[in-house]
Amino acid sequence: MSELNWNPAEVADFYDGASALADKYFGGYQRQGYWYDDNDEASLEVGAERLTRKIVDTLGLRRGESLLDAGCGSGTASIDIAGAYGVEVTGITISPVEAAKARTRAAASEVSGQVRFETGDYHCLSFPENHFDAIVAFESLFNAFDLEKALAEFHRVLRPGGRVAISEISKTTDASPLKKPFPLAREPMTAESWIKAFESAGFVVEERIQSRRVYVNTGKRHTEHFEKVSGLLTEEFGAEMTEGIRQGMREAFHLGPEDVTYLILCARKQ
Ligand SMILES: C[S@@+](CC[C@H](N)C(=O)[O-])C[C@H]1O[C@@H](n2cnc3c(N)ncnc32)[C@H](O)[C@@H]1O
Repeated sequence: MSELNWNPAEVADFYDGASALADKYFGGYQRQGYWYDDNDEASLEVGAERLTRKIVDTLGLRRGESLLDAGCGSGTASIDIAGAYGVEVTGITISPVEAAKARTRAAASEVSGQVRFETGDYHCLSFPENHFDAIVAFESLFNAFDLEKALAEFHRVLRPGGRVAISEISKTTDASPLKKPFPLAREPMTAESWIKAFESAGFVVEERIQSRRVYVNTGKRHTEHFEKVSGLLTEEFGAEMTEGIRQGMREAFHLGPEDVTYLILCARKQ
């Protein structure tokens, strides 16, 4: 079932631009982080790494296993995971600019032999069936124009017993006013809808974490950080674009925990 109607090239264009900003001003991540409370002084990078660990820990990775990072941005998390868990990571992204940056970042890292990056679309993966031990998709599937097809691809390339973990900003109920983050994205879904989508694709959902902390605390950190770098952003991108980002952030982070939760799901292929 094809649900939405956008061209993958448009999504690639969006991330070609977004990753330049994330790399230079947001520690190389285009997603949420984990802070415990208002007194937690962890940096943006540390917050993002903490969240990476929380999500990847649900996979129970063993050293030497193979992991697909589906929608890998410019490779920051893939490289972190390869070092921390001793696994072989293949990162794919629909943005050729991100894939090139990820290769450069990998070459300069201590895990250059354990990571590889490709431009690719998770709706039609280039890997054979039963190829990976595990898959992770950090805030990436909200871009799927056909979620059923993307999950069928995850199922195909995972070996039997393989695990997949995803993280997404999620509605607490269908009545939540949480909006799409940008036009080429899906409507945010509840945890129950995500679980149904995974079960329909043949997975058994083994773990579900819903954090109240992630969205609320990321909103505060990212907004504070944005104001610190807004002068530099104005110099580089102009006042109009900087104001657009400010408005976008206000819009993205104005809801409370009654409406928004951060969802981590881990499922297994039988
Ligand atoms: C919000 S960013 C998250 C990036 C990264 N996972 C992180 O944690 O920083 C979404 C990522 O999904 C990728 N993406 C979107 N649609 C995709 C598709 N159809 N196939 C592969 N990657 C895709 C984008 O290029 C981008 O890298």
